Amino acid sequence: MRKNEPFDLSSIGHFGEVLTEGQKTRGLLIHALQGMQGDHNYLPEEELKALSKNLRIPLSEIYSTATFYKQFYFTPRGRNIARVCTGTACHVRGAGEILDAMKEEFKINEGETTEDASLTLETVGCVGCCGLAPVMTVNEEIVGEVETEKLESIVERIRGNGE
Ligand code: FES
Repeated sequence: MRKNEPFDLSSIGHFGEVLTEGQKTRGLLIHALQGMQGDHNYLPEEELKALSKNLRIPLSEIYSTATFYKQFYFTPRGRNIARVCTGTACHVRGAGEILDAMKEEFKINEGETTEDASLTLETVGCVGCCGLAPVMTVNEEIVGEVETEKLESIVERIRGNGE
């Protein structure tokens, strides 16, 4: 969605007929937020203000809706997203050391993005591959049995993708 572009209520199709205008507008809000985040990788404040004006929904309500869903972010994200699993199995098998190594390597803390926006480092609960612990995800990929060599290759890959 482009900045300040009007929203097409017909985009929700047949179901739109049984919804009130208010419901339609709120339904479109999520769709609009997803589009905005798709464009920018986060929700820029200026665009949220424009959205508030366009949909005639108070900005506070938009923030309240967006913060309810974990998928939305309010600060710029890195071109790579690395998540260290800190679930029990991974914790027991060295997730803490992996997280520390990533923090040290990229000079950021958990939840932060590097200055050059090459990486956002996060933690995640169990990703369902406990047998491969310790586990990390790098973008869409799950990397199991992370040890020094694998970690080095992950770091190299992120640096290579980050420019
Ligand atoms: S605890 Fe890490 S994958 Fe299950």
